[in-house]
Amino acid sequence: MDFALNDEQKLIRQTAREFALAELEPGAMERDEQKIWPGEAVKKMGELGFMGMMVSPTWDGSGMDTISYTLAMEEIARVDASAAVVMSVNNSLVCHLLETHGNDAQREKYLKPLASGKKLGAYSLSEPHAGSDPAAIKCRARKEGEYYLINGTKNWVTNGVNSDYVILFAVTDPSLKHKGISCFIVEKGWDGFETGTPENKLGIRSSDTAELYFDNVKVPRENLIGKEGDGFRIAMDTLDGGRIGIASQALGIAQAALDASIAYSKERVQFGKPISYFEGIQFKLSDMAMEIEAARLLIWQAASLKDRGEPVGAKASMAKLFASETAMRAANQCVQIHGGYGFIKETGVERLMRDAKITQIYEGTSEIQRIVIARHLLR
Ligand code: CAA
Repeated sequence: MDFALNDEQKLIRQTAREFALAELEPGAMERDEQKIWPGEAVKKMGELGFMGMMVSPTWDGSGMDTISYTLAMEEIARVDASAAVVMSVNNSLVCHLLETHGNDAQREKYLKPLASGKKLGAYSLSEPHAGSDPAAIKCRARKEGEYYLINGTKNWVTNGVNSDYVILFAVTDPSLKHKGISCFIVEKGWDGFETGTPENKLGIRSSDTAELYFDNVKVPRENLIGKEGDGFRIAMDTLDGGRIGIASQALGIAQAALDASIAYSKERVQFGKPISYFEGIQFKLSDMAMEIEAARLLIWQAASLKDRGEPVGAKASMAKLFASETAMRAANQCVQIHGGYGFIKETGVERLMRDAKITQIYEGTSEIQRIVIARHLLR
């Protein structure tokens, strides 16, 4: 077993780190405060090949491995978790889905511009009454000649406002429950397709999360991905990979919390000494560092399994569960170490705590990850 990164992976990590510091760090606090979409940075991420990292060059992707993707995600999230989720959704939930489950015509038309960063994608599964239980979705797709007519409301859609194309899950046959769910690609601007205003969120405030409304939207039959009824399996298979991306986002937030905690504890003097001198602080730093290393290894393990084409569901859930809980604990300790200075906006560390929280919720809550893991143990 080799834990060493190869030269290409090291270069990708370095490139992502330099990009994040140069292009994302300036203005990150202001974008968070004012909910400003990081449009310029997203465009540059596309130019760097970060929006379709694992997609084959045949489809204008970067052809990199999943470990490289986790490295880039970690570095981006370490500076700006909002930009990281934009990248994660486009890579894991949109491009990977199209490359794996789409046909060549769909790859040509949609995957190429998405993987090269010319267009942005969103993944729309959840509905107001169906979050953890996506088999209960009601958004309807009725076949009418050469089209499907889509009607319904979706919510919690990352990139909902700023995306060009949306991967949509809708019910083609309600009598078949989850086996009656199908997957479509829908373009913004089609008649009857409206986007809500971005949610006013606790964290990742400069990414957009919105409701989508479908009122008799005509989707051509050729935009059905896979076969009718394949949607639930496609959604679940895709989320397995997505959870590796969100785990990496959480890891980046946790690493940022440790970085800030080390720097501050070395400079903050109390009782005549830097607070890093005191064991109460040292124990916190040690626990943060240990959990971060463990999270990173779980993520790399899941990524490496995925690259080898092996089943990844349980390991991806373990990585996402552990990394997101690590991020929340690390951000909490970081604010604690900063004391009152951690509780005000100016030091920037309260943003880590707010951003960390969503990693325990989206792409499957921590409780859902435990269910996935337990089902693998007990089957
Ligand atoms: N890969 C492929 N197929 C899978 C699968 C997987 N990982 N997991 C389940 N399936 C298949 C099963 O084999 C089964 O197939 P058959 O009917 O042919 O036997 C079928 O799917 C149903 O499986 P379950 O009975 O296990 O399904 P369930 O209804 O009990 O749900 C669950 C299981 C794990 C709880 C699932 O509902 C789940 O993951 N819930 C969380 C949903 C989620 O993560 N939502 C986030 C939305 S995306 C987002 O966050 C927005 C964003 O923009 C970031």
